[in-house]
Amino acid sequence: MKAWQIQQLGEPAEAIALADVPVPEPADAEVRIAVDATAISLPDVFMCRGTYAFRPELPFIPGQEVSGVVVAAGKDAKTPVGERVMAVTSFFRGHGGLAEQALALDIATHLAPKEMDHAEAACFSISYQTAYIGLVTRGEIKPEENLVVLGAAGGTGTAAIQLGCALGARVIAVAAGEEKAALCRELGADTVIDHTQVEITEGIKEATHGQGADLVYDPVGGDACKAASLAMASGGRILIIGYASGSYYDPPTAHLIMNNTSMVGVYVGAYSKPYTSEVSEALVALWRDKKIRSVVTKRVNFEDVPTALEDIANRRATGKIVVCDEP
Ligand SMILES: NC(=O)c1ccc[n+]([C@@H]2O[C@H](COP(=O)([O-])OP(=O)(O)OC[C@H]3O[C@@H](n4cnc5c(N)ncnc54)[C@H](OP(=O)(O)O)[C@@H]3O)[C@@H](O)[C@H]2O)c1
Repeated sequence: MKAWQIQQLGEPAEAIALADVPVPEPADAEVRIAVDATAISLPDVFMCRGTYAFRPELPFIPGQEVSGVVVAAGKDAKTPVGERVMAVTSFFRGHGGLAEQALALDIATHLAPKEMDHAEAACFSISYQTAYIGLVTRGEIKPEENLVVLGAAGGTGTAAIQLGCALGARVIAVAAGEEKAALCRELGADTVIDHTQVEITEGIKEATHGQGADLVYDPVGGDACKAASLAMASGGRILIIGYASGSYYDPPTAHLIMNNTSMVGVYVGAYSKPYTSEVSEALVALWRDKKIRSVVTKRVNFEDVPTALEDIANRRATGKIVVCDEP
């Protein structure tokens, strides 16, 4: 089958190459999916560079999220062959979604709603499951709380804005430049801080009338997280999602104590299938009510993957880019 492989580490254009590879066999707890669409994002760039938490042996196929049809199942997998699904792939062992067929753990595979198109289904799982587990399960968000979303125009940030609004929070989005700010407003953010114009700590204090943030959704880390941590309400929670900036922020412990601030880890992969299925159903219900949607900002053909990854690497992308040969 045709696949994009990471054959050497480096920037996407030099790391990735088209290859003809054998169709992979699912392990006992996996399914094999004939891919209709694949969402690509920053972690795929990190995998090209070798800076991601998972580093399969070279060469390997990246691509974390797909939609498609189950064509084979291991003996312990519960998802029936023939079902149309949305799934997080087994990219961590090199069988990602930038291929004609991909593997996925059964626990990371959920039924796709019939009315949801291939592209939207491909980017529903990670962004929204992370936003839900972050805001609801780990962050215990309450209506009227001040929610600050960092990296707000990105893949998981755009999901957190919409879910935060749906849950009744006051959403303060942080993004770079007018184009990204406009997207955050369109998605429902009450306030947008363009951090190229306004310093983040001051922007949050102003937007919350001095109260500070109750909850910070942080896929960025580094200086952005540090700036947000200096504008917390007492009892606030910082949800640690990722490190788009290249590093996490490690705050001084004394700083957390003095303001009753919690740093809270968020990782969907640690939850069981019954729980993530419950979460998936709750999210699909919100999608059917038109409260949330996948923000597919660009669809690209299979041969255009390296250029699309370069756009993500160079911070030119917003929302989600989906590889999908259908219009
Ligand atoms: N914990 C989990 O389960 C989970 C789930 C999903 C994602 N993540 C992690 O979350 C992070 C973000 O993922 P994503 O898909 O949302 O990424 P994304 O779509 O590329 O968005 C990340 C945002 O981060 C900001 N940013 C700051 N410094 C950057 C840099 N040096 N390079 C690129 N972007 C930078 C950009 O916003 P501005 O340009 O507006 O500043 C960008 O829009 C990744 O580390 C990923 O691994 C974790």
